Amino acid sequence: MSRAELTGRGLVRRYGGLTAVDNVDITVAPGKVTGLIGPNGAGKSTLFSLLTGVEKPDSGKVFLGGRNITRMHPDVRARHGLVQTFQVPSLFTSMTVMDNLLVGAENRHRDYIGGLLGHTPHGSSRTRRVMTRTLESLNLTGIADTTTGTLPTGALRLVELARALCTRPDVLLLDEPASGLDGQETERLSGLLRRVAGEGVGILLVDHDVELVFSVTDQVYAMVGGRIVAEGTPAAVREDPTVRAVYLAQGPLA
Ligand SMILES: Nc1ncnc2c1ncn2[C@@H]1O[C@H](COP(=O)(O)OP(=O)(O)OP(=O)(O)O)[C@@H](O)[C@H]1O
Ligand SMILES: [Mg+2]
Repeated sequence: MSRAELTGRGLVRRYGGLTAVDNVDITVAPGKVTGLIGPNGAGKSTLFSLLTGVEKPDSGKVFLGGRNITRMHPDVRARHGLVQTFQVPSLFTSMTVMDNLLVGAENRHRDYIGGLLGHTPHGSSRTRRVMTRTLESLNLTGIADTTTGTLPTGALRLVELARALCTRPDVLLLDEPASGLDGQETERLSGLLRRVAGEGVGILLVDHDVELVFSVTDQVYAMVGGRIVAEGTPAAVREDPTVRAVYLAQGPLA
């Protein structure tokens, strides 16, 4: 299935005298995992916010499937299939894991109100199938009925990701999904990202775990001081002299 490509063209975002994103071009292709790496303060989260619509660019444009969405509100973007997860999970803590997923699923597909009114108390059967499969693939079935607020960080991140997947996105934007995950959870996450991309979804992965990014992506952008300094396959970006200089200062790239 062919899904929408997400592109940013000539994106600029300034905060006072600081240019956090400085004339960036980026493409998140369908069916591929695209990585975005860079040191603290490089502008990754700001660029991410320009793509999700949480921030508006001072100049430049964002396109989804060729359509100019630069001025579109994040919620509207989500209904068009552009879905994000947050650095700090934004779940309903007093609800169960399953109910959080239901909100995600039905938010995009509209029978949520019917669900609240009791017409379809557990969502449509298609929605239930998607939720069940997503929980299984993330090994979360055992906590489906647990109150979300009682879960540890790693589980919360996976639930946040599960909720995003339940909206059946065309493009999935993930900011630091691996932070707070242990080794096993990180492995589960990377397997899942490959599978989801295999279904045609375009994924943008922003993470400090450079080894995770290099191992799971098809294409990587490296950002420093608001600019893209290298782009290409993980192997090419890993060998890039500017990238090496930045990361050698923080520890070697294996
Ligand atoms: N709302 C804001 N107001 C002022 N400056 C900001 C704002 N948000 C970000 N910045 C600045 O913009 C620059 C880029 O920040 P950003 O959070 O995008 O970087 P990052 O690459 O995501 O960093 P990290 O790896 O620490 O998450 C930094 O210098 C930051 O201090
Ligand atoms: Mg950030």
